[in-house]
Amino acid sequence: MLVCIPQVLTPSQVAQLRSLLDAAGDAWVDGRVTAGYQGAPVKSNQQINEQSKVAHECQQIVVSALERNPTFISAALPNVLYPPMFNRYGEGMGFGLHVDGSVRLNPRNGSKLRTDVSATLFLSEPGSYDGGELQIEDSYGMHSAKLAAGDMVLYPATSLHQVTPVTRGVRVACFTWVQSLVRGDPERAMLYDMDNAIQRLNQTEADSVARRTLVGVYHNLLRKWGDT
Ligand code: NI
Repeated sequence: MLVCIPQVLTPSQVAQLRSLLDAAGDAWVDGRVTAGYQGAPVKSNQQINEQSKVAHECQQIVVSALERNPTFISAALPNVLYPPMFNRYGEGMGFGLHVDGSVRLNPRNGSKLRTDVSATLFLSEPGSYDGGELQIEDSYGMHSAKLAAGDMVLYPATSLHQVTPVTRGVRVACFTWVQSLVRGDPERAMLYDMDNAIQRLNQTEADSVARRTLVGVYHNLLRKWGDT
């Protein structure tokens, strides 16, 4: 399931992040420091050092926005969120086809996180750079995402994906992973659809007994499929 979430960040939050990131100087390091053996040969970008002060400041802005975003919560069903990271691609940089590593160590406390959902939060306006599309492959083919600054795309961490080379300008983004309460993408997708249907019924004069039954089924499926 691929879900685009508009306006995760307000324009002023995007501007605040960009001013912190654009002034981060030495905190920008070669992106290959966190790449595995599969990703390193095809990865060409820069990342903010995860241990830097600027990383922590920027992470707080993103995490508090995600914690309050109902679409993110409904689609990702987050259990553990990896501390968000920040990257940029200048001209000629890109990241070839790869699958994200299945387990990551939290740089803060060393705890393990299973990557179920990958997330990219765009921090550059799409007209400010050429190339730099996030392309995600699923059983229906290849899908492209190049969203407005402040918008986020969620996709299964099991997918092959790439960032096409930037040919003009700079693409700045935030990315992270979610260990979901529900490991499997098909189950998460069904719960997301059901939650959306329930939210729509909440807006209507729908039969309250039927609605209550659906809410019960939603929670019982989450209990059945979920792990914490
Ligand atoms: Ni990736």
